[in-house]
Amino acid sequence: MNILLINGSPHEYGCIYTALQEMAGQFEKRGARAEIFWIGNRPIQGCIDCKSCWGKGKCVFDDDCVNQCIQKIMEADGLVIGSPVYFGGIAGGLKCVLDRVFYDAKRLFAGKAAAGVVSCRRGGAGNVFDQLNKYFTISSMPVVSSQYWNSVHGDAPEEVRADLEGMQTLRLTADNMIWMLQAAQAAKAAGILPFERETRVKTSFYKP
Ligand SMILES: Cc1cc2nc3c(=O)[nH]c(=O)nc-3n(C[C@H](O)[C@H](O)[C@H](O)COP(=O)(O)O)c2cc1C
Repeated sequence: MNILLINGSPHEYGCIYTALQEMAGQFEKRGARAEIFWIGNRPIQGCIDCKSCWGKGKCVFDDDCVNQCIQKIMEADGLVIGSPVYFGGIAGGLKCVLDRVFYDAKRLFAGKAAAGVVSCRRGGAGNVFDQLNKYFTISSMPVVSSQYWNSVHGDAPEEVRADLEGMQTLRLTADNMIWMLQAAQAAKAAGILPFERETRVKTSFYKP
């Protein structure tokens, strides 16, 4: 079982890394393989809605981590995405990555278990948690829950490590993700598969 954890902070070893590392340890304790993937801190192009990706599952801009992210998610059974809170919202670089990753390739991610993780010094975690879940719930990805909404509080790794409830919440998320994936494996072995999907209908509000 492979779990991909995306670090969406510009800090390679900051608060989000500390949170993801806690989860990675728990995944490994349960026998899964965990990889933390950092999106880096170089400028990242936002989505320009050119639609070149449609039907290809690949972004037209190939000079950053976006296509690598798509490939890694395709190879993973479970996905965790971590973001720091920036002015009450998702971190800008990560937003650019996720919009381009999910615009077309989201149809390829159905069935992969997913969870968002947020770190902040003080406020805005709930909003970012909701924002991350939006990517999963538009992609038929089952969202893994826990004993609280996944957030840790701190401005530095040692502060995050001191957030004992936050860290426990993340370990439980990891356990619940593994249980969900094991249940999906058992269901598949028993011949219980997802229902055939209807052809996608797409209507805008102003024209049918
Ligand atoms: C531009 C910017 C905006 C931020 N906005 C918020 C905020 O709205 N609320 C908050 O609690 N912390 C805010 N922070 C603090 C970070 O969310 C917090 O330090 C986070 O844990 C850093 O995670 P990292 O070390 O993985 O980058 C902000 C930090 C930056 C750089």
